[in-house]
Amino acid sequence: MSNAIITGGSRGIGEAMALKLGEMGYNVVINYRSDSSKALTEALIQKLQQQYGVKGWAVQADVSKYEDCEKLVNAAAEYFDGKFDVLVNNAGITNNSPWCELSREKYMAVLETNLISAFHMCHFVVPYMVKAGSGCVVSTSSIGGLMGVANQADYCASKAGLIGMTRALAMEFGKQGIRFNCICPGMIWTDMLRGVNQDEVAALKMGIPMGEIGDVEDIALALEFLIRDKYMTGQYVSPNGGIYMP
Ligand SMILES: NC(=O)c1ccc[n+]([C@@H]2O[C@H](COP(=O)([O-])OP(=O)(O)OC[C@H]3O[C@@H](n4cnc5c(N)ncnc54)[C@H](OP(=O)(O)O)[C@@H]3O)[C@@H](O)[C@H]2O)c1
Repeated sequence: MSNAIITGGSRGIGEAMALKLGEMGYNVVINYRSDSSKALTEALIQKLQQQYGVKGWAVQADVSKYEDCEKLVNAAAEYFDGKFDVLVNNAGITNNSPWCELSREKYMAVLETNLISAFHMCHFVVPYMVKAGSGCVVSTSSIGGLMGVANQADYCASKAGLIGMTRALAMEFGKQGIRFNCICPGMIWTDMLRGVNQDEVAALKMGIPMGEIGDVEDIALALEFLIRDKYMTGQYVSPNGGIYMP
């Protein structure tokens, strides 16, 4: 049996990815942060067991914190008997705040949750993959990591940083059988987007060549592709309705 661990798997894109991993036959450790997401995550685990016959475990941890990531990975190592096949760095937050109103505390929270968490998770998980001689790491970046977005300097920097980390680790571990890739979603319907001003959403929708906001399942499909295609490393795939074309 293969094993996967996903951060921020309680809701939104992470939930769809966790279900995709289950469909692909992976046992999944699902991380979440808020007390309010405990019941959601437990229900998701039941669904994984009933629908796909795989095992799931919910682990609460704030992945912006090094010690929490250590505890999360240690718990997963016990469940998995030390065999990590897939790591998905998905947890993320955004401020969507004008630069001059952005406090140090707020931009540090975005950088630590979106970028430094992936450093922590890779720091603890990659040694297991090195030992096994294989592994696949997928990080949820964003089109914000590829292009500028007003009021999102912290978010864009964190997501561009994930792409940089991914490329460097792909170079370093390619010959050891460990692949690193990113997904750069465009605008996707989740709680994260529901927090954005509706006028802004309407305006952004106008700017999407396909004219529509994407679904979480569109991103889960990209995850499946990056796991299955054994020649993909150091890359990003960007399901984005055409809003960004390199
Ligand atoms: N939605 C979009 O349009 C879009 C576009 C591009 C990229 N993305 C990226 O996709 C990823 C998922 O976003 P989403 O839209 O699905 O967001 P969401 O619905 O707000 O879900 C965020 C997830 O991250 C978790 N999380 C947040 N901070 C955490 C922390 N410190 N430690 C552990 N877990 C934490 C949340 O856990 P709790 O439930 O416990 O709070 C939740 O599971 C993010 O990295 C985001 O930047 C989203």
